[in-house]
Amino acid sequence: KDIVAGIDIGGTNSEVGLVDNEGNVLDRASMKTRAHGKDFSAYLEDLSRLINDLVKTNAVSLVGIGIGAPNGNINNGSIEHAPNLDWKGIVPFCEKLQVHFPEIPIRLTNDANAAALGEKLFGNGKMIDNFLTITLGTGVGSGFIVNGQLMYGHDGMAGEAGHTVVDPNGRVCGCGRRGCLETYVSASGIVRTAAEQLSIHHFQSKLADIPFSELESKTIADLAAKGDVVAQKVFEITGRTLGMKLADFVAITSPKAIFIAGGVVNAGELLLKPVREHMEANLLSIYKGKVRIEKSGLPGIDSAILGAAALIWSQNK
Ligand code: BGC
Ligand code: NA
Ligand code: ZN
Repeated sequence: KDIVAGIDIGGTNSEVGLVDNEGNVLDRASMKTRAHGKDFSAYLEDLSRLINDLVKTNAVSLVGIGIGAPNGNINNGSIEHAPNLDWKGIVPFCEKLQVHFPEIPIRLTNDANAAALGEKLFGNGKMIDNFLTITLGTGVGSGFIVNGQLMYGHDGMAGEAGHTVVDPNGRVCGCGRRGCLETYVSASGIVRTAAEQLSIHHFQSKLADIPFSELESKTIADLAAKGDVVAQKVFEITGRTLGMKLADFVAITSPKAIFIAGGVVNAGELLLKPVREHMEANLLSIYKGKVRIEKSGLPGIDSAILGAAALIWSQNK
């Protein structure tokens, strides 16, 4: 059976999945991205072994490798200056991995661009020619499908919506600037908002009992679901920030739908409801009532792997 290896490179884990041309994940495996620190060749050895083991165990034939990575560049297959990874500068990822797999195509793109491609090929974007995917996790990423195609721009790196500015005097971002959307609506951005809210309302919330270093966006979502008003306010604020920004992206691309992916979206309606309300309230009247916001249609644990594999399958179909 012909199979593509879809690889999702995250700040913590690198996940590999075997994906067929219908978007089924046959098997998967995971390794630590940081196990070898800055030693990129040791990382590649491990990754190649992981792929080969999976292929052998499942007795499939590997026809390509697709990779999604933060700051991934489709044009040269490199990861460029990723703020959340240990490898600095420009890492020629595909070129180096190709040495281990000389016979097959290997392509790499930005992780959120891959997620949008996955949504188009295997998810809820199949029948839609204009939509946005926003990924909310450690970082905030985006992929813009415009007129049926992923928007890459002249340098192969278009679609960095997480680093558009919400507040010019705002929070310091990993990219070195201030006030990026990512610093407010990523997993750690939500924790920062919770800390701010707690300093005002601490006596009203169970969040105050949790040491700051242990606070996670998931914990805040759980408490909000149980009725904690401060935790609920955190999601209301997060939804407002994201919703207002989405209204701007609508004005630029006029999408039919916006799909939200990534770990933070597990909060469900707690997040999506205020996002919808605040986007709608801020839309130009020509767009009102025309754009829907939904959870990504790709299964959460596999969405990044499917997106990466779509990079190869979208070429072969
Ligand atoms: C990076 C993007 C990436 C996103 C999600 C951001 O910090 O700049 O390239 O798509 O995180 O991983
Ligand atoms: Na992107
Ligand atoms: Zn930034």
